[in-house]
Amino acid sequence: MSPAPIRALVTGAAGQIGYSIVIRIADGTVFGKDQPVELVLLDIPQCVASLEGVVLELQDCALPTLVGVEAVTNEKDAFQNIDYAFLVGAMPRREGMERKDLLAANVKIFKSQGKALAEFSKPTTKVIVVGNPANTNAFICAKYAAGKIPASNFSAMTRLDHNRALAQVALKTGTTIGDVKNVIIWGNHSGTQFPDVKHATINKGSNTVDAYTAINDTNWIQSGFISTVQKRGAVIIEKRKLSSAMSAAKAACDHIHDWHFGTKPGEWVSMAIPSDGSYGIPKGLIFSFPVTIDGATKEWKIVKDLPLDDFAKEKIQITTKELEEERDDALKACDEANI
Ligand code: NAD
Ligand code: LMR
Repeated sequence: MSPAPIRALVTGAAGQIGYSIVIRIADGTVFGKDQPVELVLLDIPQCVASLEGVVLELQDCALPTLVGVEAVTNEKDAFQNIDYAFLVGAMPRREGMERKDLLAANVKIFKSQGKALAEFSKPTTKVIVVGNPANTNAFICAKYAAGKIPASNFSAMTRLDHNRALAQVALKTGTTIGDVKNVIIWGNHSGTQFPDVKHATINKGSNTVDAYTAINDTNWIQSGFISTVQKRGAVIIEKRKLSSAMSAAKAACDHIHDWHFGTKPGEWVSMAIPSDGSYGIPKGLIFSFPVTIDGATKEWKIVKDLPLDDFAKEKIQITTKELEEERDDALKACDEANI
């Protein structure tokens, strides 16, 4: 007998990331090839025709795991009984903008969706916020769903940055992605994030070596590597004139796959989740940490007590300060947005 369907919502489903993400959720990549999925696609009314086109294409994919698709343009229908919510729908940044420039426009969406989650979704719903500024949007969404859905069910996506870091280390060391483990993205999904290889490892044949020693280039680790990962989103916008979509969709699917099934033994992933005060990060801030996940309980745990040198502490302080400022601006924007 097949398990009960998982009901997954994708917001912004008529957009670029939406188009790349729905196929992976529908075809079993995220929840497994034996797990039926019901997809709910939300976009704004002006995008209804393109949303309907996505539904037709999903039908034409003839996927055994996809047992239902609904295309909707209102939050009440969208958030009904949802198990997993991929909150993608928001304005993307254009060339020359910082992600926090989107705050005033996008934070209102997440206030409203936090309330809709509380009202219509399951108390166990797990949420990934992709729409930028992702950490602060997730903070607002969790705030307005509080009392019904625990804050620990809310996350923001830094898995794209994590994957970018893995790829840079693999390229630098002439290894493959599968050989590189335990990079960390600390903090905000922004130009202040701290991509960290200090605790990463690389498999070389039958040996596991620490990445820092294998790379043997402190200048690259502390400068070129960090800035490449921090600025990757902007470089992609400059080249495509559109923000990353294929890689963003893949990362969102990696994030939810690992939340659903758990992380592999001895490995962690980066997820922005509410701080519990670890590493001195103010409680409740949606901050990217290294986490392990138990697939049975679907609970994440922050990897504790990793030693941090002065360089790391300073970088973490910078991204923390930015997140505190974004949080305060967002709270103000929410007060002003009388939704
Ligand atoms: P897009 O413009 O192609 O699509 C966004 C879609 O969201 C549009 O179809 C739009 O109509 C819809 N939308 C807007 N307001 C909505 C609402 N209130 N409810 C439902 N849908 C709504 O943009 P995109 O390239 O798909 O990017 C989406 C977001 O993801 C942007 O904010 C972008 O910056 C962000 N992003 C984040 C990451 C990350 O790593 N966290 C990576 C890439 C992009
Ligand atoms: C990314 O990292 O590619 C996205 O957040 C899009 C952006 O604005 O950089």
